[in-house]
Amino acid sequence: MALRNRLAKMIVDPAFRHPELLKLIFALDDITGIDLVKTLAPFKLVPASAEVFQRSFAHFVSGEEISLSCATQLAAIVPDDPAACRYLLIQAGEEKTHLDHFRSKLDQFGLGEARLGKFVAPNFRNFGEAIEKRIAKGDYVNAFVGNNIVVEGLAICLLELGCKDMRANSDEIAKFLDFVLEDERHHVRFGERRLRVWNEQGRVNERDVADFYGEMWGYVEGAIAEIPDVVESLGLESDFLLGEAKRFFEARLAGAGLAVTA
Ligand SMILES: [Fe+2]
Ligand SMILES: [Fe+2]
Repeated sequence: MALRNRLAKMIVDPAFRHPELLKLIFALDDITGIDLVKTLAPFKLVPASAEVFQRSFAHFVSGEEISLSCATQLAAIVPDDPAACRYLLIQAGEEKTHLDHFRSKLDQFGLGEARLGKFVAPNFRNFGEAIEKRIAKGDYVNAFVGNNIVVEGLAICLLELGCKDMRANSDEIAKFLDFVLEDERHHVRFGERRLRVWNEQGRVNERDVADFYGEMWGYVEGAIAEIPDVVESLGLESDFLLGEAKRFFEARLAGAGLAVTA
């Protein structure tokens, strides 16, 4: 590890244990109008600016809210499937934990939730609304496609492929992101397996899944186009992210025996 990074770790991690220091840096940014975080970037003194935290975490919070709501409602509508119902309740508990973690991190840095709404890409809201409509119709199959494959799969792509600077500059943030990532991997795997079982039982209409996946894919493309600054701040390139996300979603659907593409 470069000496600069080693020094940064010594300085940054204490900052995370003493968030008042970060709050002070963010406050100085606000008061002086000088982007201290950017100015200090070559020295990696802080993992991200207040803006980057708010913009990226706003989307993680939004995704967790969708997943918490979907998992909770799906537990009530999955038919004749006590094991799936129990797992969904566990999943809902984990989503609530993630949500609380993201919110408490924002609070810790003095970045209250009140301002989050204005950062969220409009197409992110479409994810939740589209899935809610399917749940209202009792269409648990497509609600699974929307939440456990697309929304959670997108979170995996962002957490695995992006966030490199945040990870490199703080062991605490890296540990926190890995903790969320591990749960999301289980949720996606569970979604893929449930869809495969339902498909084998003849409960899945492949054409309907193709339509809904196509709709969700449109929102993914729309959302990525709406937040180029967030994508960039996560160290990602939009075309690369879209390609990887599409490959990931379609591999999960193929695992469920569904040959659908967007
Ligand atoms: Fe989650
Ligand atoms: Fe999840």
